Amino acid sequence: MSRSFSASLAKCGARVVGNQLEEPVTMEDPWQRAYDFAVLVARKAGAEIRKAGESEIRVSTKSSTVDLVTKTDERVEKIIINSLKEEFGADTYSFIGEESVANGKPCVLTDKPTWIIDPVDGTTNFVHGFPFVAVSIAFAVKKELEFGVVYSCLEDKMYKARKGKGAFCDQEKIQVSDVADIHKSIIISEHGTDRSPEKVTKIFSTMQKILRIPVHGLRGSGTAATNMCLVACGSVEAFFEMGIHCWDIAAGAVIVREAGGILLDVDGGPFDLMSRRMVSANNEVIAQRIIREIEIFPVERDDAHPNGN
Ligand code: IPD
Ligand code: CA
Repeated sequence: MSRSFSASLAKCGARVVGNQLEEPVTMEDPWQRAYDFAVLVARKAGAEIRKAGESEIRVSTKSSTVDLVTKTDERVEKIIINSLKEEFGADTYSFIGEESVANGKPCVLTDKPTWIIDPVDGTTNFVHGFPFVAVSIAFAVKKELEFGVVYSCLEDKMYKARKGKGAFCDQEKIQVSDVADIHKSIIISEHGTDRSPEKVTKIFSTMQKILRIPVHGLRGSGTAATNMCLVACGSVEAFFEMGIHCWDIAAGAVIVREAGGILLDVDGGPFDLMSRRMVSANNEVIAQRIIREIEIFPVERDDAHPNGN
């Protein structure tokens, strides 16, 4: 195992691969401008979230009494979408945004270039002042993720990755951990916002089985986007969840892959962004070992209602 204390003190948490500068911009790269702009927009959105956290936060609920939403989630999503429309034109791209979908917009990934946005990932953390909150912005073309940006706005860390060009935290290249022995791993899992007894039982039964392997530890930051960045920079070996949404994980998926990690379905099959099931890991060995323990329960796909709710 090559986890080192000095690495974990580095600016982006762990496993920084030197001070490599990002790739030079090439004219043939059609999405570079969109990528650069996404970083600017994520930073602006994060500043809004930090500012909003200083005033009183008014909380409402969505799918259940523990599925929280605030005016800030809605406002920040509007800021992001309006900024992208102003920059690139109102009809150039499609949008899938957590709060737009909650308000009845369709959640379908088509071949059209599409922004996938979670304005405040970790809303419960935001409401409680638990210090992990992220803005997550991804971009897909022909259903393939091209880039992802996750701004962990309270830590002021900008994670980003462009397909084929590596993953970065601020200016530093990041890489997954090289641990292949599950006994030396830290695994992240979350329990989401569905408290139905059958699901809670399966989630905790899975966690028990993983703890008993045993692993070094189980963790959870309360934001799926940040959890994936922790896999990408080698602080943990894996993060899995059932019941997450495409906007929670789209940007993180590119970042994990570009940091050398893998994504799979919870049954070991190929990762499907709209399935609401995901295992992200540093390597196949760790992923498959976790998959052996996962108790699968049914979740409705994100694109189950193509015309919106
Ligand atoms: C939630 C977070 C959490 C995950 C939930 C998500 P939200 O997103 O990512 O870590 O466990 O499944 O819904 O509601 O804070 O945007
Ligand atoms: Ca989210």
